[in-house]
Amino acid sequence: MAGLRLDKILSKSGFGSRKDVKKLILGGRVSVNGKAVTDSSFKANPEDIFVDGNKISYREFIYVLMNKPQGVISSTEKGRTKTVIDLLDDDLKSYSPFPVGRLDIDTEGLLLITNDGPLAHNLLAPKKHVDKTYYAKIKGVVTDIDVQKFNEGLDIGEDKPTLPATLKILESGETSEIEVTICEGKFHQVKRMFHAVGKEVVFLKRIKMGNLTLPPDLETGDYIEISIDDIQNAQKED
Ligand code: URA
Repeated sequence: MAGLRLDKILSKSGFGSRKDVKKLILGGRVSVNGKAVTDSSFKANPEDIFVDGNKISYREFIYVLMNKPQGVISSTEKGRTKTVIDLLDDDLKSYSPFPVGRLDIDTEGLLLITNDGPLAHNLLAPKKHVDKTYYAKIKGVVTDIDVQKFNEGLDIGEDKPTLPATLKILESGETSEIEVTICEGKFHQVKRMFHAVGKEVVFLKRIKMGNLTLPPDLETGDYIEISIDDIQNAQKED
């Protein structure tokens, strides 16, 4: 390995921002192959780097599984509205993560956040048809006819009808409870599918994406770090 800048490696290994890392290096706490290095631009192999005598564990990518709360947006852009990135601790923020796809501001549930561009691309690529399952409360009585219509595909105003979706009725009544699995990711898709059968989504929560399941004990607004192995095999080709 030709080596990477010391400050870059350390800031990607949980030692804070580039500024924090610079201080650490200037403080003489970092050594490479047993020799103290005080130059932040020094190029090194992550395997050879020690901080306070402890070997660092370098990682390039982070994978965060969040239970997104309502009221925050799935964006990296700083604005007036709080983003899912704002909910992460500073160490994770230093990896420049972004959400894999979007959940609406009023949708809760499973959201993957990473800095692994190729992985995100794979999970979002339309032809990969990654399954996404949502739990929802619906205003109105959801019937077996709706189940059939979801399975046949619905006209939601796009060029083509939606691909078959699996609708499971958990409870049917004035407010119904359902689970729906879709394999596309069109804007407001679940809400628009229910709109197409004359019903309204009043609560929406994603509970599954590919082979990732929202842990039932993960509170809204909380998150856990997961590994790439937890995510792999989430995709299936056409
Ligand atoms: N479908 C929606 O309508 N909204 C979401 O946030 C996700 C899927």
